[in-house]
Amino acid sequence: MDGKTVVVTGGTDGMGRGVALARLGRGDEVAIVGRNAEKGAAFLDAAARLGAAGRAHFVLADLSLVAETRRVIGEIGTLFPKIDALVLCARHYRSTRSVTEEGFESNFALFYLSRFLMSYGMTDLLDAADEPMILNVCGPGAGPGEIRWNDLGFERNYHGTDAMMQGGLLNDLLGVGFAVNRPSRKVRYVLLNPGTVATSFSGEYDPETEAQIESLRQAATPIEKGIEPILAMLDDPPAEPISASMMGEPISLAGPSFDLEAARRLYVETEKLLSAVPASPRQPYVMSGGVDAETAGGARLPDLRHRGNHPARRQRAAVGGLGDAGRR
Ligand SMILES: NC(=O)c1ccc[n+]([C@@H]2O[C@H](COP(=O)([O-])OP(=O)(O)OC[C@H]3O[C@@H](n4cnc5c(N)ncnc54)[C@H](OP(=O)(O)O)[C@@H]3O)[C@@H](O)[C@H]2O)c1
Repeated sequence: MDGKTVVVTGGTDGMGRGVALARLGRGDEVAIVGRNAEKGAAFLDAAARLGAAGRAHFVLADLSLVAETRRVIGEIGTLFPKIDALVLCARHYRSTRSVTEEGFESNFALFYLSRFLMSYGMTDLLDAADEPMILNVCGPGAGPGEIRWNDLGFERNYHGTDAMMQGGLLNDLLGVGFAVNRPSRKVRYVLLNPGTVATSFSGEYDPETEAQIESLRQAATPIEKGIEPILAMLDDPPAEPISASMMGEPISLAGPSFDLEAARRLYVETEKLLSAVPASPRQPYVMSGGVDAETAGGARLPDLRHRGNHPARRQRAAVGGLGDAGRR
């Protein structure tokens, strides 16, 4: 897919960064989204070394915030008239439960809600491409796990791994729901599990989990190898509206992870939650290749630390189950 336009969330590190640089190397125009300005600038430097400075963009955003994710969708729309591929990679593990200022449990917000918003919010831009796809790099086929329908925000008995596993299952249902709702006739939705890959494993770990991650990293596939199925999928999008695979092998959609009724239920619940989060007036922040971080568009680095009692957090009490404000 030479000369196409690709957007990668979580593109400042790990597989997202690997995919973004690989696509730049093949002639695509690429925008990454990440929360770390220094890593974003390093990505643009790497792009320049590939001779791709003019085709590389960095959008700074904390995707665990709904308002920020909505802003990103708008900014991508000002960068590009169409998107051929949206690659969803942002995630962050937390040993200790945390809640965003909007009142959502952080894993739920970043790993699921932002992907929901990006998937549905980019439909117009994707529809403008010939063979558009959403490639959700998550965990289909990863094993049991459970969705806590009455405690999606893990207010009780939080464990980082359980929350992450639930996020994977929610993304499976996001893909199914997207294919059922058909907001686009063109977009193919791909759920892809890359297997265990030695990435940055972005996270805040307790010592025990840190040790597990370290031994996992030793045995894991290197990034260049781990992203091969992702790159292959981008080169040759599947024909089906929805598909799932693990390390290049197709996964049947007949299993309970892809239950249609559960997907519908999740969609309704998600829309209800999102409707309580007001739009944000935050400043845009986009850097393109070769432009200094401090002076891009006259903008200064925005303060990404959010504080205070956000209005959506107060409204969440009416919905419950997702943050520290409401209970079912
Ligand atoms: N690695 C594996 O073994 C494995 C296995 C199965 C599935 N997966 C899936 O593959 C995808 C990519 O994983 P990876 O291991 O390559 O990831 P990674 O190395 O941990 O990188 C995650 C990326 O997300 C960014 N990020 C974290 N919090 C963010 C936030 N609030 N806003 C915006 N960006 C944020 C990180 O930025 P910072 O550097 O600033 O934190 C980083 O760029 C994930 O969806 C993961 O679930 C990975």
